[in-house]
Amino acid sequence: MTQILSSVAWPYANGPRHIGHVAGFGVPSDVFSRYMRMAGHNVLMVSGTDEHGTPILVQAEQEGVTPQELADRYNRVIVEDLHRLGLAYDLFTRTTTRNHYAVCQEMFRVVHRNGYMVEKTTMGAISPSTGRTLPDRFIEGTCPICGFDGARGDQCDNCGNQLDPIDLINPRSKVNGETPKFVESVHFFLDLPALVDALATWLKGRQNWRPNVLNFSLNLLDDVRPRAMTRDIDWGIPVPLPGWEDNPTKRLYVWFDAVIGYLSASIEWARRQALKTGDPVDADAWRAWWNDPAAQSYYFMGKDNITFHSQIWPAELLAYNGEGSRGGEPGDYGRLNLPTEVVSSEFLTMEGKQFSSSRGVVIYVRDMLARYQADALRYFIAVAGPENQDSDFTWSEFVRRTNDELVAAWGNLVNRTANLIHKNLGVIPPAPSADALQPVDQAILQAAEAGFGEVGDAIGHHRQKAGIGAAMKVVSQVNAYLAETAPWKLAKGDEADRQRMSDVLHVAAQAVSDCNTLLAPYLPHSARLVDAALGYQRPFGDEPRIDEVTDLDDPSRSYPIITGDYGVGPKWRREPVAVGQAVPPAVPVFTKLDESVVEEELARLRGDL
Ligand code: MF3
Ligand code: ZN
Repeated sequence: MTQILSSVAWPYANGPRHIGHVAGFGVPSDVFSRYMRMAGHNVLMVSGTDEHGTPILVQAEQEGVTPQELADRYNRVIVEDLHRLGLAYDLFTRTTTRNHYAVCQEMFRVVHRNGYMVEKTTMGAISPSTGRTLPDRFIEGTCPICGFDGARGDQCDNCGNQLDPIDLINPRSKVNGETPKFVESVHFFLDLPALVDALATWLKGRQNWRPNVLNFSLNLLDDVRPRAMTRDIDWGIPVPLPGWEDNPTKRLYVWFDAVIGYLSASIEWARRQALKTGDPVDADAWRAWWNDPAAQSYYFMGKDNITFHSQIWPAELLAYNGEGSRGGEPGDYGRLNLPTEVVSSEFLTMEGKQFSSSRGVVIYVRDMLARYQADALRYFIAVAGPENQDSDFTWSEFVRRTNDELVAAWGNLVNRTANLIHKNLGVIPPAPSADALQPVDQAILQAAEAGFGEVGDAIGHHRQKAGIGAAMKVVSQVNAYLAETAPWKLAKGDEADRQRMSDVLHVAAQAVSDCNTLLAPYLPHSARLVDAALGYQRPFGDEPRIDEVTDLDDPSRSYPIITGDYGVGPKWRREPVAVGQAVPPAVPVFTKLDESVVEEELARLRGDL
């Protein structure tokens, strides 16, 4: 049993999330975590909403509310959507908790004390017409590294390098096109050059990363410069140093605080455990994932987040640990583990175009789940998502895969098996005697059992497409088994035929049960229905819930979290089916979609509906 931290990227609370977002961070992290729990590991899956920085400020201004009001609004929307999608977080929290503030400030203080936060005077951009500071991402210009013309002040999306706005060639404001004015401003910089050797050693010791993620991360090491970790902004976490703390216009950089969320959420989770058990020792439970060198940590995100997870966050950790060239000592949290693996997806497009809320090329998770089954979306993302290359969501593919694969292959197999048992036997029949077991029976039982090794190995190595492919292959083998053995014909035969039918249906029930376990990490909602179709009346698989909680350090604030008591579900192995258990008449598990859905959704996308 291993301690496994599933660190899931924190969605910005500046609007509802679309299916491209959950294809990147959401479904893959949940499939992995559910599988790891079933395989007997000690999983802690954490995330929350990312609520600081200019994305929040700008949207708040647009909606005419305060940043906190905006964050409150979308935190709730996002919590509801992710919960409905079945994402089984141990804790999904937010970055505006007092706990998160305290953890970030502790991190900053120790990084600073160890000598890795250096104060520098820089040139900050202001808008000449308003006199207000112009956030980095609102400045656009030509990238000084690759020459790409649409580079932003914080990052070039063409070459992936982080930038400072002042380095842009021909900088201009995205708000009104004017040329920003640069004025002096003092900031704290994370001294990446003092950490680069340690970063390189860590990165070079990584194994089995997706090659594009590793190469991208290694390339980042070629050009490291100190990176500003404070901003001229009034929304964010105060800089915890004398002279800075009370300055209302200096705040920690949103990315400095967001990545610390993985640690602060783990600590919040443990503190909430301690509240429940009443044992203060439990408040330290997070250390099993962060201090024990044998623990593993996997970080899930879309590719635009790689830099922050394979460079900035490890650098913050190394600096906290005192493991850069300036040395140092860890603070109260002790020596913190660096990521085992940064698992990044590529991008999902929609009908061939980039998602864009402003241009209406979007389908929000909320709208999708209002009209379609959560597992239909999860299935699509698992089989056709952007695991190793960009992939496209189209309505025609969504309908085709739902109907041909989920409904026709898997759903019908469950229905057929359950109905045959219900009508002809009423209960799950006993296993065939050893000499009655035929080669076809043995072959299908073996194929289903082998699925545990194959699918598990694939998910464990972040090859989830291969994993679900292997599981669905077993499904089609079981369908072929039924076609070949034709138990519905045997039902009409003599006593020997009826005995054979009973044997076949036992084997089929066992194989369906196996397939259901294999698919459970991917399709948790329907796994419960399939389990019930075989007559079980029990909780099957981990079910996240939303709890309304009060802030641990400020009883006046309350917020929704996603959490759950997990690990009660099926284990990652064959469980012998319950012989003699009554099987009810089958109810379809998946909803078949009418072909007209495609036209209807395309019309909606065009704005015609
Ligand atoms: N909010 C960021 C985004 O949506 C992701 C932050 S991941 C974190 O791109 F871990 F840094 F929080
Ligand atoms: Zn560039």
